[in-house]
Order: sequence, then C-alpha cells, then structure tokens
Amino acid sequence: MSRSALLVGATGLVGRHCLHRLLADERYAEVITLGRRPLEHQHPQLTHHIVNFEQLADYADVIRGDDVFCCLGTTMKQAGSKEAFRTVDYTYPLQIAELALTNGATHYLLVSATGANSSSWFFYNRVKGDLENALQALGYPTLSLLRPSLLTGDRAEKRTGEQVGEWLLDVFSFALRGPLARARPTAATDVAAAMIAVAQNPTPGVQAYEPEDIRRLK
Ligand SMILES: NC(=O)c1ccc[n+]([C@@H]2O[C@H](COP(=O)([O-])OP(=O)(O)OC[C@H]3O[C@@H](n4cnc5c(N)ncnc54)[C@H](OP(=O)(O)O)[C@@H]3O)[C@@H](O)[C@H]2O)c1
Repeated sequence: MSRSALLVGATGLVGRHCLHRLLADERYAEVITLGRRPLEHQHPQLTHHIVNFEQLADYADVIRGDDVFCCLGTTMKQAGSKEAFRTVDYTYPLQIAELALTNGATHYLLVSATGANSSSWFFYNRVKGDLENALQALGYPTLSLLRPSLLTGDRAEKRTGEQVGEWLLDVFSFALRGPLARARPTAATDVAAAMIAVAQNPTPGVQAYEPEDIRRLK
C-alpha cells in the first residue's frame, strides 16, 4: 500500500537525510514538506509548501500525510530567547501534529532529545519533555519519539559548543560504556535511517527510542 509522508524541517541536518530517504522509498507515493523557505530539491513525488509558521491553521489543508516526520528545531542562540525557542521546539511541532491528526495522520515521528523530561532542571530538556507529553495527549495511533544525543553530521552553520562537545565525547568515548553509552554522539544520518525503519515497522502506541536504539535500528 502506498503512503504519504509529511516532513517538517527538511532543510535541517536530520531533515535533509530524512528527505533523501523518503524520496528513495517506494512505499511513499507522495512526500509533502513544509518550510519557511524554498527547497533546492526537486522530485516528481515531492510537493513543498512555504508556510508562515505563526499562522499554521491557515495551511490546514496541506498539513496532511499518513506518517508525519518532525525534524524541526532551533537553538537558544538562533532563537534569541527562551520564549522564541519554545515556540519553534514546542508550539510549532504540536500545532502540526494537531492539524495532521485532524487530516487523518496515523503515525507521528518526532526527533526529540535524550534527557527529554518535563521535570528537568534544564530548560531544553523540559521543553522536549513538555512536547512529548503534549503529543501523547493527542492520542495518535502511533507516536514514535526518537531521542538522539549530541548530533553529528555536515552542518553548514558553525556551532562551537556542539563541536567542542563532540570532540570531548570522541576523546573520552572509551569511557562511555554500559549506561554511559547513551552519551555517545548520534549521527544525524542514523536518526533519519531509524525514523524510516520505525515508519516501516510501526509499534502502535507510544514508543521512545534512545541513542542505543537509534544505532540498532539504523
Ligand atoms: N543538535 C543536536 O546535537 C541535537 C541533539 C539532540 C536532539 N536535537 C534535536 O533534533 C532536532 C533536529 O535537529 P537538527 O540539528 O537536525 O536541526 P537543524 O539542522 O537546526 O534544522 C532545524 C530545522 O528546523 C527549521 N526551523 C528552525 N527554526 C525555524 C523557524 N523559526 N520557523 C520554521 N522552521 C524553522 C529549519 O529551517 P531553516 O532551514 O529554514 O532554518 C530546519 O529545517 C531538533 O529538534 C533538535 O532540538 C538536536
């Protein structure tokens, strides 16, 4: 049976890999992307919509797909304030989930983060945890929460903090065993591969995939 995919964040590190894999996947007859700017990519199965994320309800008719892949996100530096960060990492993914569910979506796949927890002392983890909880409350038949650790891959923009973190984790990788293995960086391409694998073989209900699960599924 051919399915349709809705992908949000297709211009990002994980989203770009996800887009390539979706377009190469014969099970998807249609891939719909939403973004705030044009996509360089062109493909017969691909339809890209430029939307104003502040007015998502105005685009309700195009926010549809059987499987929704959410790779949206920003950083505190890019966003400029906690409030603006929460808008991109919580409000937009939740609104898209609501609108897509109304239009018949059955599976929502979110790139969340390891440590997502609405009771966390860390603002970032709290926002991710709040989003996971809000999505669970929507009642999707299948909700897949992918929780990578620090992402690695070819990023156009320089993120010094993440680069230093990646270097440190690399140097001390020998010590990251057992329960600490979760702290090892996750390749963005592995996250995209795991998303496609989970979409192919969905487990109904709510499932969370930690970094070690993502590595196993890729
Ligand atoms: N970075 C890490 O180490 C790390 C670790 C664990 C989890 N995560 C999470 O993984 C997810 C994917 O991360 P990533 O590094 O692949 O993301 P990314 O490369 O920063 O891409 C983010 C995507 O979100 C879009 N976006 C950002 N701000 C937007 C806005 N204001 N309005 C509309 N679209 C906007 C971007 O579009 P434009 O191209 O138009 O900007 C892009 O498509 C994020 O939720 C992130 O929090 C990241």
